[in-house]
Amino acid sequence: MTSNADITNAAAIIRAGGLVVMPTETVYGLAADATNDDAVAKIFEAKGRPRFNPLICHVADAEMAAHYVVVPPLAQKLIDAFWPGPLTLVLPRRADAKLSLLVSAGLDTAAVRAPGHDSARALIRAADRPLAAPSANRSGRISPTTAQHVREGQLLIEPDAIIDGGPCRVGIESTIVKVDGDIATLLRPGGAAREEIERVIGAPLNSPPQADKPLAPGMLASHYAPRATLRLNAAHAEAGEAFLGFGDISGHIKGKDASAAMNLSEASDMREAAANLFRYLRTLDERCQTLGLSAIAVAPIPRDGLGEAINDRLTRAAAPRG
Ligand code: TXA
Ligand code: MG
Repeated sequence: MTSNADITNAAAIIRAGGLVVMPTETVYGLAADATNDDAVAKIFEAKGRPRFNPLICHVADAEMAAHYVVVPPLAQKLIDAFWPGPLTLVLPRRADAKLSLLVSAGLDTAAVRAPGHDSARALIRAADRPLAAPSANRSGRISPTTAQHVREGQLLIEPDAIIDGGPCRVGIESTIVKVDGDIATLLRPGGAAREEIERVIGAPLNSPPQADKPLAPGMLASHYAPRATLRLNAAHAEAGEAFLGFGDISGHIKGKDASAAMNLSEASDMREAAANLFRYLRTLDERCQTLGLSAIAVAPIPRDGLGEAINDRLTRAAAPRG
């Protein structure tokens, strides 16, 4: 069982930007500080995810959630009925939320839940941080429901600590419901039954637009897209373009207004680039508006490691919009 010393040690790891495997009542999560871009990027690296899916932010209780998301009355009702427990709510991010943009994959919403497992909530409280945590398996493998599964699960980065909380009580992932004002939409069925949720809200749950397709929120139309056009694999910026660089970009931005150029990682570090991606895209998009530029030229980004997910996101952002 988990001792206080284990929790204190794991909380220190979280605050230092490390990765901790934590038990929850649904499945084991690979947790990191949801306010730390670099720590969140490390989660994607460890899972070998080919794209940046938004992650669930685990909080200790409703009060903690309210620091990060806007909670309309309908969401409050669900929180009162289901937390702590296997119900995740997707809600608008607060403008002042100190959450990583990477945790939301650039969306204006964030997914929050208070896990129904004492060790998980103790860890969140001790770290005094919301914890981003997808299931603690390598991408494409089955979600772990014991600490032993995690050890066998071949994460690509060794976690800094594993908290063994025994087998997960629920064993399937949380139900995900998006609440938009007084509309509740079921995004993923899971540990909290649809009927119970509908009983609490007194109405049927809405279905997402393409309920017949597998849900990959990274592909939803609501995904953040910059207003400026993106031109990928650009050797340098042309006149009228901002520049998003990678690695050594001296010579690529000659004569350019320095405020219209940013570098994802001068050291060509993929994790640093991932941590900066959504923030820099937003910043450059805003600069394009103020400086009257129409496009962002993006330097070629290698495809190794997190480069695959970075390229996936950039390709989506560059795709023509209807
Ligand atoms: O039970 C669970 O939910 C487990 C434990 C560890 O808490 N976590 C889990 O996380 O299943 P993950 O990353 O495997 O799944 C999170 C799901 C993804 O499908 C993601 O797209 C969706 O939540 N999601 C997160 N934020 C979202 C957002 N802002 N909008 C829509 N979907 C979101
Ligand atoms: Mg998963």
